[in-house]
Amino acid sequence: MLITGGGSGIGASIVRHFCAQRARVAFIDIAAAASSALRDEIGAGGGTAPVFIEADLRDIAALRQAVSRVEGELGPIRALVNNAARDDRHDWREVTPEYWNAVLDVNLRHQFFALQAVAPAMAAAGGGSIVNFGSISWMRKAPGMVGYTTAKAAVEGLTRTMARELGPMNIRVNAIVPGATRTERQVALWWTDETMARFRREQCLDRIVEPPDIARMALFLAADDSAAITAQSFRVDAGLA
Ligand SMILES: NC(=O)c1ccc[n+]([C@@H]2O[C@H](COP(=O)([O-])OP(=O)(O)OC[C@H]3O[C@@H](n4cnc5c(N)ncnc54)[C@H](O)[C@@H]3O)[C@@H](O)[C@H]2O)c1
Repeated sequence: MLITGGGSGIGASIVRHFCAQRARVAFIDIAAAASSALRDEIGAGGGTAPVFIEADLRDIAALRQAVSRVEGELGPIRALVNNAARDDRHDWREVTPEYWNAVLDVNLRHQFFALQAVAPAMAAAGGGSIVNFGSISWMRKAPGMVGYTTAKAAVEGLTRTMARELGPMNIRVNAIVPGATRTERQVALWWTDETMARFRREQCLDRIVEPPDIARMALFLAADDSAAITAQSFRVDAGLA
């Protein structure tokens, strides 16, 4: 199986969870140091180390090459988790056409091209599961990131259309829509104690959503447990949206 952006945050938790199931795991990430450290740590812990491929997902040729390499090393990809993204903040007044394209490239475009690249071998192998990553941010009308929220809203359309396109090949396409999830990046850049307290107040559940909460949904959607589920989006947000 293949995970994009598996080097840190939610993606790293997904890598760990699939490795713990003894799946043959590969992940793509631009962050070489964190990703190599994760790969080595899992290998040193006695499990089969995942394959790490350093690539920039904005480069579609590099993404296609990475998919071919994974198929060569691990066989057809039966599960793809399109997790990578970058929630940079931006003032809508200052967004240029170039910046707009850059935000969509890092948050949306690679999800389609990864899916397009894995689908033929997945279909030939009998089918599989594709999991795209959305976000509740656009549902909550989050300000200061219109490129990101637009991309994440589009993931819903991508998911539903491609579920229809790929269904006849026994390929399921669903989306996970995380809520406010405690990752290294969120804590380093945006979260304060006050933000965290606010999330807990506004959520139905008085708890913090952690990366493993999301990873367990990815496991479910990749497994045959969800064999009859496609074209759906699943919020894992403790009831925030
Ligand atoms: N954390 C949250 O609160 C939250 C909320 C809603 C949605 N999400 C979504 O969940 C997913 C994971 O988010 P996260 O919080 O773990 O993010 P993160 O920033 O912690 O991790 C993202 C990973 O993607 C990698 N990446 C970024 N740009 C890349 C590129 N161009 N090429 C290759 N790799 C690249 C990063 O290096 C990093 O390892 C994303 O799709 C995000 O939009 C997260």
